Amino acid sequence: MCGIVGYIGQRKAYPILIKGLQRLEYRGYDSAGVALIDEQQHLNVYKAKGKVADLEAYCEGKDTGGSVGIAHTRWATHGEPSSQNAHPHYSASGRLALIHNGIIENYATLKENLVARGIAFRSVTDSEVLVQLVEYIMVSNGLELYEAVQVALRQVIGAYAIAILDREHPSQIVCARQSSPLVVGLGAEGDFYLASDASPIAEYTDRVVYLNDGDIALLRLGDELHVVNLSGEARHPKVKQIDVTLGQLEKGGYPYFMLKEIFEQPACLRDCMRGRINVDADRITLSAVIDYRDKLVAARRVIIVACGTSWHAGLIGKQLIESLCRIPVEVEYASEFRYRDPVIYPDDVVIAISQSGETADTLAAIEQARSAGAFVFGICNAIGASIPRQTQTGVYIHVGPEIGVASTKAFTGQVTVLCMLALTLANERRTIAGDVYKEMVAELVRIPEKMELALKANEQIERLAPIFTYAHNCLYLGRGYNYPVALEGALKLKEISYIHAEGYPAAEMKHGPIALIDSEMPVFVIATRDKLYDKVVSNIEEVRARGGRVVALVTEGDTQMAKLADHIICLPDTMECFQPLIASIPLQLLAYHIAVCKGKDVDRPRNLAKSVTVE
Ligand code: AGP
Ligand code: GLU
Repeated sequence: MCGIVGYIGQRKAYPILIKGLQRLEYRGYDSAGVALIDEQQHLNVYKAKGKVADLEAYCEGKDTGGSVGIAHTRWATHGEPSSQNAHPHYSASGRLALIHNGIIENYATLKENLVARGIAFRSVTDSEVLVQLVEYIMVSNGLELYEAVQVALRQVIGAYAIAILDREHPSQIVCARQSSPLVVGLGAEGDFYLASDASPIAEYTDRVVYLNDGDIALLRLGDELHVVNLSGEARHPKVKQIDVTLGQLEKGGYPYFMLKEIFEQPACLRDCMRGRINVDADRITLSAVIDYRDKLVAARRVIIVACGTSWHAGLIGKQLIESLCRIPVEVEYASEFRYRDPVIYPDDVVIAISQSGETADTLAAIEQARSAGAFVFGICNAIGASIPRQTQTGVYIHVGPEIGVASTKAFTGQVTVLCMLALTLANERRTIAGDVYKEMVAELVRIPEKMELALKANEQIERLAPIFTYAHNCLYLGRGYNYPVALEGALKLKEISYIHAEGYPAAEMKHGPIALIDSEMPVFVIATRDKLYDKVVSNIEEVRARGGRVVALVTEGDTQMAKLADHIICLPDTMECFQPLIASIPLQLLAYHIAVCKGKDVDRPRNLAKSVTVE
């Protein structure tokens, strides 16, 4: 979900819009576009795939006049990144231009109706449906833009921040929001600014209105701001003062992107599940599984290939798919798989997991699998990246751009997609009872709420962190579903604080690492209530007996562990297989706060790249 900028006033709009898009570039995007109404009332739309700089190059020598305009950076969700699919989108007659951030869940039904009425579409995006619907309502009901938008949005299900220009009324912008942010800046001379966050607005005015969900606003030059809700009732907009710096705004007020991304996780997982789990929370629909049902359902074996954090998500995927679908799963480091001459059968399904979609080792493993005739399924975050293009099908995790080098929200997004995939396949293969399936889907939908509770431990963890900055080595222990969580917790600490850390299956400790334990060795144990709880308690006793310092992640209400561990962090209870989504949060926070205490650059750790495009 990327960026929106808008301006209406006395100044030339184009430079303000371009500068605004540059301020939003930190969000990541794949294409950009701008719409302007010039002095002759022409509505000009220019779009380009790639960066804002590519858009600027494209606009060179073109008519960029006019003092009203809207601009957009797109993070494609429906349709590949291309200039055709980039926003703004014209309406059928060319009278309106619209930009949209978000996802329209019922776009297919709306589009079908509009196509049946003879309206031709120029892109394959979900967004274009909005501009066609609004114009259709204006024409068929004789309404003005502001009214037509209200009628149209009552039919729309999904998340959106939108802005629309009407060349017949060049002194207004109509905009609206639902689950996607939008801020209106109030200029001193009846002029207006509009953006996804306050960063493009802050240099022009400090008076802003943050639109609420369901708000539809009319920005008319020289007039006050008008806002109504979806039922058309007037709302009184609350004007606020911006009191943060530009740098802080980009990070949403957080000191680092990593912390912002940790806190974004509940919202990201809601985005990841939106449109895939129905409103009654009892059914998952993944279009990739519908399209390739037979191939996936008949898989004799699954091989997961990935690197780093994505490989850890794969380890959780293995347990989910094996226990729910009864299909054997192997998890491979892509870098090993590619050179190992592995045995691959035509009825194998290879799942490639990658946040960036550009990891060279994972791409090579995909190539290897494809040339051996396997079916390759991608799980990716970056839309239109190489991995989604080189796999036969797949699922995007839709958690938005991840800027911090240490992966956080992409990990929980990957695990969420794996949960949805395993449940869907299990249901199709009839390896899960109908009522259990429904119960599990309902619990998955509750996970974002439980993550919000887990995030409440932040202050406790911040207070705890300074105790561990002295450490040179740390051990992370977990069993079952929590073993990959231990690996991921250790990787996070290594990456950003440069403290050596090992993740281990708790029971395996006695076969070696136990020799390292002394009073200087912090041991982080994931000891949530599950079938292996008592075993983990014994493992903790073994650490205590050797003077080790234990921090235990426990399920709320656990009194036994409070007596045993030096520190406990309480987590909300959930089903065992969803526990990684909750238990990774305190470990991300712990790594973050320890690194901050050590004065490290959390977002850009030394020697690491966000996307590893070399071997
Ligand atoms: C995660 O914190 C790391 N930066 C790294 O291990 C990463 O997960 C790995 O490079 C794989 O990247 P990908 O998911 O983009 O393929
Ligand atoms: N769903 C829209 C598209 O794919 C908007 C994506 C965005 O938020 O940038 O075009």
